[in-house]
Amino acid sequence: MHADIAKVLIDEGQIQVRVRELGAQISADYRDADNLLLVGVLKGCAMFMMDLVRNIDIPLSFDFIAVASYGESTESSGVVRMLKDLDVDMAGRHVLIVEDIIDSGLTLAYLRSQMQRRGPASLRICTLLNKPERRTADVPVDYLGFDIPNEFVVGYGLDYAERYRNLPYIGVLRPEVYTL
Ligand code: IMP
Ligand code: MG
Repeated sequence: MHADIAKVLIDEGQIQVRVRELGAQISADYRDADNLLLVGVLKGCAMFMMDLVRNIDIPLSFDFIAVASYGESTESSGVVRMLKDLDVDMAGRHVLIVEDIIDSGLTLAYLRSQMQRRGPASLRICTLLNKPERRTADVPVDYLGFDIPNEFVVGYGLDYAERYRNLPYIGVLRPEVYTL
């Protein structure tokens, strides 16, 4: 285990089992939707997205957007800035937003309202992790990997100051690392 990690919350095997289940559920739910578009929110979603699409067995395309919400802090600022928009048009498409984690919900509430205006046939949300205790903005979660306690986690795509994304598990970061 990495020295900055206090404990492993979800190990590699648990992640893979859950991602397979989510993939199967999404495949079943969108079986008749011939134009599914997964929209990943960079960069945290990267690992989850790549594992998820390998477990979905219906035709799909995927694209990515990038937003800034945290900088180098562990608290959401409430200000969301679009850094990279979609390359494709989502009008008339069945869109599934793929996120790494929902914390306050501010990022997704903003994204959801922006995307709803673009006229998708449907718009749903899939997140690997959810911190229910921290929710301030109301966002519906259609597909959820794991509810987790209110602790700052990294790994499997999630970062602190751009680090730890490469860890293959979800771990709780030692508070000393970000309170120094
Ligand atoms: P929200 O706007 O507060 O819901 O924050 C959402 C974004 O904050 C996520 O997409 C993550 O990038 C980041 N975030 C929230 N909690 C954590 C965490 O525990 N570890 C790493 N990033 C987090
Ligand atoms: Mg982040």
